[in-house]
Amino acid sequence: MSVEMVRNSDERWVIHNPQGKYRVISTKNLVGNLWLEILQKYECRVEVCTDRGVLSNEEIVGAIGSKCDGVLGQLTEKWDDSLFNVLKRAGGKVFSNVAVGYDNVDVPAATKNGIVVGNTPGVLTEATAEMAVSLVYAAARRVVEADQFMRAGLYKIWLPDLFLGKLLTGKTVGIIGAGRIGSTVGLMLARGNKMNLIYYDKYQNKQFEAKLEAYREYLSHTGESTIEWRRADSMEEVIRDSDVLSLHPNLDKTTFHLMNSERLQMMKKDAMLINCARGPVVDEVALVEHCRENPQFYAGLDVFEDEPLMKPGLKDLPNVVVVPHIASATVWTRRGMSALAAMNVAAVINDLPPWGSPNVLSFVGESVEDVPPAGPSLINAKDLNYTGRSVAKL
Ligand SMILES: NC(=O)c1ccc[n+]([C@@H]2O[C@H](COP(=O)([O-])OP(=O)(O)OC[C@H]3O[C@@H](n4cnc5c(N)ncnc54)[C@H](O)[C@@H]3O)[C@@H](O)[C@H]2O)c1
Repeated sequence: MSVEMVRNSDERWVIHNPQGKYRVISTKNLVGNLWLEILQKYECRVEVCTDRGVLSNEEIVGAIGSKCDGVLGQLTEKWDDSLFNVLKRAGGKVFSNVAVGYDNVDVPAATKNGIVVGNTPGVLTEATAEMAVSLVYAAARRVVEADQFMRAGLYKIWLPDLFLGKLLTGKTVGIIGAGRIGSTVGLMLARGNKMNLIYYDKYQNKQFEAKLEAYREYLSHTGESTIEWRRADSMEEVIRDSDVLSLHPNLDKTTFHLMNSERLQMMKKDAMLINCARGPVVDEVALVEHCRENPQFYAGLDVFEDEPLMKPGLKDLPNVVVVPHIASATVWTRRGMSALAAMNVAAVINDLPPWGSPNVLSFVGESVEDVPPAGPSLINAKDLNYTGRSVAKL
């Protein structure tokens, strides 16, 4: 399906399907075409901001204007009560973050304004987990330092002690926040590298535990050295016992600065800390200090407290590997996130029901015709008593 496109008077915005019955804005251009095909199928005119900078709330208010049915927004924006109020007054019904995390969205404020909020779980778990594991490898084997050494022409002779790193096999990985992504990282490292595992979460993850136990039993049946795993009673237990500590909780009041100076001190002096969750989960100033004082300690960071900035001193530390918040940045994943966000918005505008299953793969196939008529992930649907029309009536 092709999507007709024109530019509006503000050169930064392009309009797709200008004849569409409903007006939807997207504060960034997204990945692939499926998201636009979905919105066109559901009769939406889509105005897309092609500016690659962060829009201010004033600019977003201007873009919402006096009529806007739905918005696809970014984690770089603060969706607060004032924006949801403007959206409501413009006749808006729905906002979807193009992300699984939604700490940038005041969901109670959206609910108060009658706006349904969507997010995009289910397509970025593996991509994000793979980035966490990439950072583990990069830190353990000093990949960035060694790369810089090669490019600087410093490699003159093979030496027995050149860039000694850390072996993962047989060591312990600790996971804080063993939800979708945390448990996937845990399984990748336990199965792939035969690491022992310890996790802390507010809730027991029985499925995760069953998979770990099955792998442990498999190893003992095959006569290989086996792994141990356990759920810890406290976060501190995980922090103390881990050789690799990977953080995967959502950001809220309970996880802000979860890794502070005191907890960093509890870690093994030669451990690794990985953060692919959200920047403020780690006190970055304390981390700079800790990495400076403990050269054998490594950190791998995808996210930062003051993105896109780093705290002073971080970039000068050789024992820190940094990447620019790209954990979910694979083509398949970003195309899928775009499609899920689009379908969240299209569904609510067209009064379609919530999907009701964590398996959303049917939303991200090849053809728009295969996309189910439902909102894949509507966070506050229950609070708003939003049910859409029943599937039977569609
Ligand atoms: N770097 C990236 O690009 C990227 C990509 C995807 C997700 N994320 C972040 O990762 C987070 C997790 O994603 P997910 O899909 O696995 O979410 P999830 O909801 O499946 O998992 C989060 C887990 O954290 C646990 N948790 C929350 N607060 C806790 C606390 N105080 N103590 C212990 N456990 C706690 C929850 O119980 C849950 O099991 C997202 O919220 C998002 O912020 C980052």
